Amino acid sequence: METYLKILATGIALPDKVLYNADLERMVETSDEWILTRTGISERRIAEKDVATSDLAADAGRMALAGAAKLPEDVDLIIVATATGDHLFPSTACIVQDKLGAVNATAFDLSAACSGFLYGLTVVHSLLSTGVYRNALIIGAETLSKITDYSDRATCILFGDGAGAMFVEPGTDGKGLFASHLGSDGSLTKLLNLPAGGSRMPASRETVDSGQHFIKMNGNELFKVAVRSMEVAATRTAEKAGIDLADVDLLIPHQANIRIINSLGKRLGVEKEKVFVNIDRFGNTSAASIPIAYHEVRAGGRYDHDSNILLVAFGGGITWGGVLIRG
Ligand code: ACO
Repeated sequence: METYLKILATGIALPDKVLYNADLERMVETSDEWILTRTGISERRIAEKDVATSDLAADAGRMALAGAAKLPEDVDLIIVATATGDHLFPSTACIVQDKLGAVNATAFDLSAACSGFLYGLTVVHSLLSTGVYRNALIIGAETLSKITDYSDRATCILFGDGAGAMFVEPGTDGKGLFASHLGSDGSLTKLLNLPAGGSRMPASRETVDSGQHFIKMNGNELFKVAVRSMEVAATRTAEKAGIDLADVDLLIPHQANIRIINSLGKRLGVEKEKVFVNIDRFGNTSAASIPIAYHEVRAGGRYDHDSNILLVAFGGGITWGGVLIRG
């Protein structure tokens, strides 16, 4: 019998501090109107100086555990998908394990940028289907504000901080995640990256002075690749699930840019009312974008257990992924 990934509960954590477009107008040469029409973003959340990714991740994880009525010691596996971990090592997942007191869990990070959460779900689906683990806490968490250059108007308008989590178990009642598709194209690493701080360009006075510890992005090229790769992810995932795209009740795309989301919906033939959008309030939170969106959808209670919810993402690497959830 096919094993589903049953989502018992979800959780989110968002910093209180809001960065409005009007604030950005005072920092770089831009306007509320430009940001809104080109990206769809009105505001984004920004972590305080002393808050790291693991803090948001642990808060989201705690909320998901409480929702599932599980104790920290019940958790078998913790995966944190992030591009802004607390350190190069140890993993943020190990720090989260300690913060939660999940003493029986195996913990590791997953690096696939904005597709990281869907990569995590897919990996966990395999590990739980084969009985390697009995349950998992999957978290997408980012503090992108820490690697954003607030003097670069092309990038600083886009990003926000936050975390989202899911507590999952295997299920055989036909509800939950049951199909996915992942892909990567390493020839496009240059479109979006963080040049320094790793073994290719270790941190030095020069790397700091020349801003190499900030996100670098080719926005125009990425825009096209984003639409193309998410279209592939959505189509292949629907094929694997054996459903028609017309049977998708809700499409939850990675929240990178409203124009990317609208183009994707159009190409897939999914009506606007069936496409979830919250980019106006949170901006692009990378690996946290999909779990935050899914949490809001679930909390809204509009979708029953027979709904087909299609989650799609793309990210640096580049990477892409799609996941089909029933209910
Ligand atoms: N305010 C005002 N003007 C600006 C701003 C700004 N914040 N940023 C750029 N401009 C200017 C440019 O300098 C340019 O001026 P010019 O014509 O005089 O040279 C003009 O606006 C147009 O610039 P473009 O880069 O062509 O603008 P575009 O419409 O492509 O929008 C954007 C830029 C929003 C970055 C878009 O390309 C985009 O969203 N790309 C995808 C980004 C993305 O998804 N990133 C992923 C991030 S991480 C992840 O999700 C994996």
